[in-house]
Amino acid sequence: MSLPQRVKLVEVGPRDGLQNERQLVPAAIKIELIERLAAAGLSAIETTSFVSSKWVPQMADNAEVLRAVLASPRRRSQVSYPVLTPNLKGFDAALEAGAQEVAIFAAASETFSQKNINCSIAESLKRFAAVLDAASALEIRVRGYVSCGVACPYEGAVDPAKTARVARQLFEMGCYEVSLGDTIGAGTPASVQRMIEACAALLPIDRLAGHYHDTYGMAIANIYASLELGMAVFDSSIAGLGGCPYAAGATGNVATEDVVYLLQGLDIETGVDMEQLLAAGQFIAGYLGREPASKAARALLARRGAGC
Ligand code: HMG
Ligand code: MG
Repeated sequence: MSLPQRVKLVEVGPRDGLQNERQLVPAAIKIELIERLAAAGLSAIETTSFVSSKWVPQMADNAEVLRAVLASPRRRSQVSYPVLTPNLKGFDAALEAGAQEVAIFAAASETFSQKNINCSIAESLKRFAAVLDAASALEIRVRGYVSCGVACPYEGAVDPAKTARVARQLFEMGCYEVSLGDTIGAGTPASVQRMIEACAALLPIDRLAGHYHDTYGMAIANIYASLELGMAVFDSSIAGLGGCPYAAGATGNVATEDVVYLLQGLDIETGVDMEQLLAAGQFIAGYLGREPASKAARALLARRGAGC
C-alpha cells in the first residue's frame, strides 16, 4: 500500500465554517483570517459564497470580503481564493468582485438539493451548466461539489452509484475537480471507500477530493481510508469551524490542524506551517469566544502552555 507523497488541502473555514455561525462575524475578521491562512501555506482558501443573503445572512458581505482579499498587499499570488456560486446571478456577482475561481454545488440526494438550493438535482445541473459555460469563456476555473455523497439528513444512506453519477456529470460539464461531501459526517472508512470506488470508476481519482464533516468523529479515519485509495486532495476547516445550515446537527468540517498533524505523521507533504496554522485557529476561535474544535490544536497549545 503506498499513500500519496503530497496532499493538497483546500481550506473551507471562511466559507463552510463561518456560514453556520449565528453571531455575525465582521468582514475585517474574515479578511484577517483568510490572510493568516494564506500565510500558513494553504494554497486554496474558499473565501465566501455568492448565495442569497436571505438564505445565508453570514455571507452577505461576500463582495466586500473577496475584493479586500484580492486587493490586499498580503495577497499571495500562488493562492487561489474560490467562492461558491449557485447560479448565474451568483456567478456574475462573484465576477464583479474579481473572482478567478468559483465552485458549484450539486447534491446526490433530491431532498437535500431542494432544501439547500430550492431546486431538483436536474434543474441545478442546468443552472451549473450555464455557470460553466460563462466561466469557460472567461477561463475561470470551476470546482464542483457533490453533497450528501454518503448520507442525507432527510433520506438516510445514499447509494454510491447516485453520488458517482452526479460527480461524473460535474466533471464532464467541465469541473476541474469534484469534491465529494460527507455533508453530515455520518460516513465511516467503509462507506467512504465505497463512495470513492464508485466515483473513481467513472472519473480519475486525481480529479476527486474528499470533503468530510466530523459530526461522528470519523473524518480523520475517513481521510486515511481515502489516502489508501490514492485520493490526494482534502477540504478542511480551520479550528473545525462550521456545519451546514441545511443539515441540522451536522458539525464542522474536519479541522485543518488535525489533518496537518495526521499528514505530518505520515511524512506526507502539505506545504502548511503548523505554527502559523495554530495561530490562525487561535485567532478565529478567540474571536468566537471558544477553543478550537481541533484536538491536535488543543493538545499542541496545551503542551506549549505547559512549557514542554
Ligand atoms: P431561490 O429563492 O430559489 O432563488 O434561491 P430565485 O431564483 O427564486 O430568486 C429569489 C430571490 O433570490 C431573488 O431576489 C433573486 O434575485 C435572489 P428578490 O427578487 O426576491 O429580491 N437570488 C440571489 N441573491 C443573491 N445571490 C444569488 C441569488 N440567486 C437568486 N446567487 C438560491 C436559490 C440558490 C439563491 C438559494 O437557495 C440560496 O442562496 N441557497 C443557499 C445555499 C447555501 O449557501 N447553502 C450552504 C452552502 S452548500 C454546503 O455547505 C455544502 C458543501 O459544503 C459541501 C458539503 O458539505 O456537502 C458545499
Ligand atoms: Mg460542507
